[in-house]
Amino acid sequence: MRQKLVVGNWKMYGRLERNRTLLEGVLSGVRDLTQAAYGVCVPYPYLAQAQVMLQGSNVAWGAQNLSQHEEGAFTGAVAPGMLVDFGCRYVIIGHSERRALFHESNDIAAAKFDAAIKAGMTPIFCVGETLVERESGVTEQVVARQLDVVLNHVGAAAVAKSVIAYEPVWAIGTGKTATPEQAQAVHAFIRAQVAQLDEQTAQALCILYGGSVKPNNAEQLFAMPDIDGGLIGGASLVAEDFVAICSAANAAAAG
Ligand code: 13P
Repeated sequence: MRQKLVVGNWKMYGRLERNRTLLEGVLSGVRDLTQAAYGVCVPYPYLAQAQVMLQGSNVAWGAQNLSQHEEGAFTGAVAPGMLVDFGCRYVIIGHSERRALFHESNDIAAAKFDAAIKAGMTPIFCVGETLVERESGVTEQVVARQLDVVLNHVGAAAVAKSVIAYEPVWAIGTGKTATPEQAQAVHAFIRAQVAQLDEQTAQALCILYGGSVKPNNAEQLFAMPDIDGGLIGGASLVAEDFVAICSAANAAAAG
């Protein structure tokens, strides 16, 4: 059986003191939840804080972006090796906010995916359609295109070391969650796409759902056969809510 995973995406939120309280709450809340895996992806300046506070715990940490380059004259960018220096396990790649607001293309996302794998991190690669795309019935085509670029670029061995997150853009930060059935259908589609590349990789692949996952809908989402956990935005900033979502994953994993 695939492991359940819950990862918080803090986005551009946090301050040293607030983070401390949040991480203390998360640590004490998930300490005894031994059936699933947990992580938080924090803004770059707080990686050192996450490392110091989470080292040796059952909460891993990571970043929300990285450069595809090893080093060089790239003002403002952060290299994969720098994230590794701070013990990052995860790095989010291709989030719709980066695609829309920072004009990251599928090709750039694929290069970043590759760079993350080469540095020994686990990329959390995000795909998902906009509302207009869903309403015009092209969800699968959009997701397939986003996936294909990476699958063709990095190959099955790299995909096996990654996590995919299905994040419908219309559900992010809107309070509108995909129904468990809507999400399950796209997750099954993603797994089938990966199976065309390699069946074993597809069966073992962790596919997270992201988009307004809250304590009151996590249980139903995580009960679906192809939903292996969640990528959590807003609710990951409230310790009690994040712990409740982790607890739902733990319970789903425990069966
Ligand atoms: P919300 O949980 O706030 O909708 O954000 C989802 C997300 O974008 C996680 O990456």
